[in-house]
Amino acid sequence: MPRITIDDVELEVEEGRTVLQAVDDAGLLMNGVEIPHYCWHPKLSIDGSCRLCQVEVEGMPKLQIACNTPVQDGMRIRTTTDRVKSARAGVMELLLVNHPLDCPICDQAGECKLQDYAFEYGVEGSRSREPRRALKKNVDLGPTIVFDQERCILCRRCVRFCDEIPGTHELAVMNRGDASVIETFPGQQLDNPYSMNVADICPVGALTTRDFRFKIRVWFLEDVPGVCTGCANGCNLHIGVANNKVHRYLPRRNDDVNDTWICDEGRLSYRRIGAADRLREVQVLEEDGGRRVAPYAEALSSAAARLRGLLDGKGPGVIVGIASAHATNEDLFTFRRLLDALHIETAGLVVVRGAADELLLKAERGANGAGARALGFGDGRVVVDRIRTGAVDGAIVLGHDILDAEHLGGIEALGRLDTVIALDSHQSSLQRVSHASFPVRVPAEKHGTLTNWEGRVQRVEPAVEPRWEARSEGEVLAALGAALGLEGFSEAWDPREVSRALSEAVPAFAGIELASLPPGGAPLRTPPGRKGRRAT
Ligand code: SF4
Ligand code: SF4
Ligand code: FES
Repeated sequence: MPRITIDDVELEVEEGRTVLQAVDDAGLLMNGVEIPHYCWHPKLSIDGSCRLCQVEVEGMPKLQIACNTPVQDGMRIRTTTDRVKSARAGVMELLLVNHPLDCPICDQAGECKLQDYAFEYGVEGSRSREPRRALKKNVDLGPTIVFDQERCILCRRCVRFCDEIPGTHELAVMNRGDASVIETFPGQQLDNPYSMNVADICPVGALTTRDFRFKIRVWFLEDVPGVCTGCANGCNLHIGVANNKVHRYLPRRNDDVNDTWICDEGRLSYRRIGAADRLREVQVLEEDGGRRVAPYAEALSSAAARLRGLLDGKGPGVIVGIASAHATNEDLFTFRRLLDALHIETAGLVVVRGAADELLLKAERGANGAGARALGFGDGRVVVDRIRTGAVDGAIVLGHDILDAEHLGGIEALGRLDTVIALDSHQSSLQRVSHASFPVRVPAEKHGTLTNWEGRVQRVEPAVEPRWEARSEGEVLAALGAALGLEGFSEAWDPREVSRALSEAVPAFAGIELASLPPGGAPLRTPPGRKGRRAT
């Protein structure tokens, strides 16, 4: 492998990489080795158009662009010489000649590479006396993106994204020279399932999403690492939070999961966190069919009494468990332990499915189906059939995916049961037939782990705190076990301790613990597809 030296740092790099790729591979780009860049993006083809990444290579008379210079063994590169600094300042000056002084009203301000690099590498004043180029400020590119032509620096990242990632080719550079401008092809809109990624990769404020425009200044946002729960892919996120409210999802780079992209559907799924239809109250069903809000402890003992009545009267065979792909591994491990302690053998995973694509989106619309299966929750269709045919009397139901047309298609069959205990984050008709119903937290509100479709276990942590009484499914189920008088169950439920117990009890999770999971996650010991085993 070639060895290169860059600013006195020695690197062994893969054959065929460029200087910029080699520095990025080593995790040093803008993180010890400063090579500012606009047109280069780690997941797109090389353009070499902005000229900002120039570096000095020993033995080469001219400065070279780091993004398109292949490494050679023995290469010595310098990124901080006077020639390099002067070239960068020249590029910045040219880029700023026509750039509008929009920063006070620009959504990108605070996370703009033009601001950052102008401050770090640019010149202080402008020598230009000409009027700045006036172009269109508010171009409607499609349903999700608005374009400001004046702010564009023509790095062509957005064009290459549409060509190379979704392959939809909506954008192009039209005209030539200083008349060049980004446009959609005539009669076309920028409208694909990944369209909003162009706003993330636009290094300036030229492309903004309709969803986030003018919502909040970015410096008010706290950035919490998270995982999208829209499907089984488990894309990594930056969750933007202010005042205990999620304002946006942005992709967080994970080369093993989502590169640097997320789909639009997943991006907008943050709205579900603070949605008006969140389930906010513990409720019980009265004998006359009426519903009322109840204290948590009362609902727990009522649920425990109903389950105990069924267990003592008819045995555990008449009760079933429905696991949810929206619960964490720790929640589901607690559910598994509860079912095992009650000798309830019929349990399965029920999840809604939708269309998948070839890029990221998976058919399973839940983040933790693979985790549920690794914990022994098999295909829930058997359980659904038993409910439909009236072969059971009681059900403990996590989530309301079971009501989907693909499964029960409504509440009628559940309504015939003697006892339904439901744990859910959002309102649905499930509450109408639940004898006790508990509001639970979504993954962005709790500590835990999720296992994506290919068996990567990833950590979630609370980005926001619900303003109402909501617990993790695991906490409610542990308290239910305690109310049933089961040994080893208590109201105190700590996901870190549960994760440790899970890692010891289930071989697939051996060595995987919430407290020590790396930011990019870790693979299950037994990947999905191999036979899962019951936990206890
Ligand atoms: S709109 Fe943004 S991403 Fe597209 S070419 Fe202009 S600056 Fe680059
Ligand atoms: S592909 Fe799936 S996990 Fe990724 S952002 Fe979209 S919905 Fe979320
Ligand atoms: S990043 Fe190298 S020329 Fe633009």
